[in-house]
Amino acid sequence: MKVEMKNNLFSERVLGIEMSGIRKFFQKAKPGSINLGIGQPDFPTPEHIKIAGIKAIEDNLTGYTFNTGVPELREAISAKFKRENGLVYSPDQIIVTGGAGEALHIAMESLVDNGDRVLYPDPGFVSYRECAVLAGGIPGGIPVDESLHIKTEVCKEMLDGAKVMVLNSPANPTGAVEDRETIRDLVEYADDAGVTVISDEVYEHFIYDKEHTSAALFGDNVVTINAASKTFSMTGWRIGFVAAEQELIDQMIKVHQYCLTCATSISQYAALAGYTGTNECVHEMKSEYAARRDLLYNGLKDLGFEFPKPEGAFYMFVPMETEMQYKILDAGVVIIPGDAFGKNAVDYARFSYAASRDDITEALKRIESII
Ligand SMILES: Cc1ncc(COP(=O)(O)O)c(C=O)c1O
Repeated sequence: MKVEMKNNLFSERVLGIEMSGIRKFFQKAKPGSINLGIGQPDFPTPEHIKIAGIKAIEDNLTGYTFNTGVPELREAISAKFKRENGLVYSPDQIIVTGGAGEALHIAMESLVDNGDRVLYPDPGFVSYRECAVLAGGIPGGIPVDESLHIKTEVCKEMLDGAKVMVLNSPANPTGAVEDRETIRDLVEYADDAGVTVISDEVYEHFIYDKEHTSAALFGDNVVTINAASKTFSMTGWRIGFVAAEQELIDQMIKVHQYCLTCATSISQYAALAGYTGTNECVHEMKSEYAARRDLLYNGLKDLGFEFPKPEGAFYMFVPMETEMQYKILDAGVVIIPGDAFGKNAVDYARFSYAASRDDITEALKRIESII
């Protein structure tokens, strides 16, 4: 039944957001299409993590956990922050969430008041704008330049009077990785302007020619968000986490408590095996992504597409007109139009290489057939 939107049934906040444009494009795909639209790893969850999840069920670890998450997992994440990111967050400064998605939501709900300006990369991950609007914020998309990196000078100007700025490196959908100096510059500038930075680092392990830099290295007014989802190919297990100054954690925990109570207990024990185990599985996934990146990048370049080589995540953001995007879809290859990721990238399409090399090769053949 179609609901008349002009009544008073629904909140303006929820009417102000839309279903993700990603889903809309998927619905247009022909049967037998190759899916280069997907934003999740195609690897199975590593064996030691699955076994830990099964053991948690067998050991009846199936009740509520602390709202913040099981202590062993928060300790393991605290150790991970020290080891991999050079960040000092005590276990008390960490909340285990239902994926990075929930972490983002509780951060926005805790920081944003009606009318506060929230900045986020545009093109950017679909949730940033919508979470900001749901929290009552006024969204402001930070543009990127031709190399797909944030326009830092424009960003600095936008910071004046803003409340929150989201950074995402490596970035979805562009695959851009901001360098250390840019991140330092933006975080320090935000700090001076009294703007809280939310740093979404879910793709930190998938960087090919550069290094990852955590924003919280350069200021205290930074909320770090991450997840097991992409790192360990665990998207369906729904484990993410958020780390911040204690005062903010004390606010975010209230939102989390009344929304989710706690992240799934079984998944928390599975993620614990991930964060305390070897990163060998992550390295293997990364080297496979790197090979796929080269295959897809070189293939598209050979077909005449010009674009910067992505530095991280598992996406390629390719300039092309809408007509070409539909031709590719018609040829049986699902890609995602740039306008699903904001207003600034209409003439782009996102290709995901979280797909097998065979699928990438076949997709390139299909694209070649229409060029
Ligand atoms: C940049 C970015 N942040 C957050 C998320 C959400 O991650 P999760 O599945 O852990 O909620 C995604 C998922 O695609 C993403 O691309």
